[in-house]
Amino acid sequence: MAEKPSILVTGGASGIGRAIVGAVLRQGWRAVVADLDHDSLDRFANELEAHAGELRFERLDVTDEAAVERCLEQCGAVTGVVNSAGIGRNYPALETPVAEFRRVLEINLLGSFIVARAAARAIGRRGGEGGSIVNISSISGQSGNMNRVAYGASKGGIDTMTRVLATEWAPLGIRVNAIAPGPIATPMAQAMHSDAVKAAWARTVPMARYGRPEEIAELALFLLDPGRSGYITGQIVAVDGGFSAAGIFEPTIDRF
Ligand SMILES: NC(=O)c1ccc[n+]([C@@H]2O[C@H](COP(=O)([O-])OP(=O)(O)OC[C@H]3O[C@@H](n4cnc5c(N)ncnc54)[C@H](O)[C@@H]3O)[C@@H](O)[C@H]2O)c1
Repeated sequence: MAEKPSILVTGGASGIGRAIVGAVLRQGWRAVVADLDHDSLDRFANELEAHAGELRFERLDVTDEAAVERCLEQCGAVTGVVNSAGIGRNYPALETPVAEFRRVLEINLLGSFIVARAAARAIGRRGGEGGSIVNISSISGQSGNMNRVAYGASKGGIDTMTRVLATEWAPLGIRVNAIAPGPIATPMAQAMHSDAVKAAWARTVPMARYGRPEEIAELALFLLDPGRSGYITGQIVAVDGGFSAAGIFEPTIDRF
């Protein structure tokens, strides 16, 4: 019998990553939950005790190249990756510390590259079936959302990287796609979105609500599954309540 798919989810102990781990388990697949935050990992491991046989928890910094390569060597036959580890920073461009800009690029963009490349190498070493990589980008990578010069640049970089990797790795059977979420109700959004920011989203998202992490997870699952998305690669798919589609419109209902 064929091995169950096994999905490495970075940033898997919180928010969008955590919802993706849940969806992977509901699908009957295995997951490797990788995160920098030891406490969140511990809490999540306790909650998921019933699924212990399908899970592995790894404390991992996605910017640590050697640790990531080691993780991919030791985590069994990973068939898919979701790069959800990321940080957000809000600064006006004139006040953005260079060190913060560097840190955002390092984790969001370079970290996603380090993990994707290690996974592609591991999948390549095994030969055979190929795999699927899903990068969690953002609609802030596609438009000039203010105060997000570093964050937006990191996500725009992820979009371009996704297309390059999809092109280079198609012959290896590795598909690479990205999801560009709009505002999603997670601990990151909770920490970063002031009342003014929430009001701004209410004016600019036609569906006038935050998305749920599970609404990102469903698309991630689809993109990971070769049976459902086997001919899709190099795509950036927005899950944003219509934000990126909208031109001028009048918000009629305030449901935020
Ligand atoms: N929440 C939103 O509105 C939103 C919108 C668009 C895109 N995103 C993206 O979705 C992804 C997940 O965000 P979230 O909202 O779930 O945030 P979150 O803060 O709830 O989860 C992010 C996780 O990444 C982990 N992490 C941070 N740095 C790491 C590192 N160096 N190595 C390993 N893990 C690390 C954190 O510990 C945390 O558990 C991010 O890439 C974020 O940019 C979120």
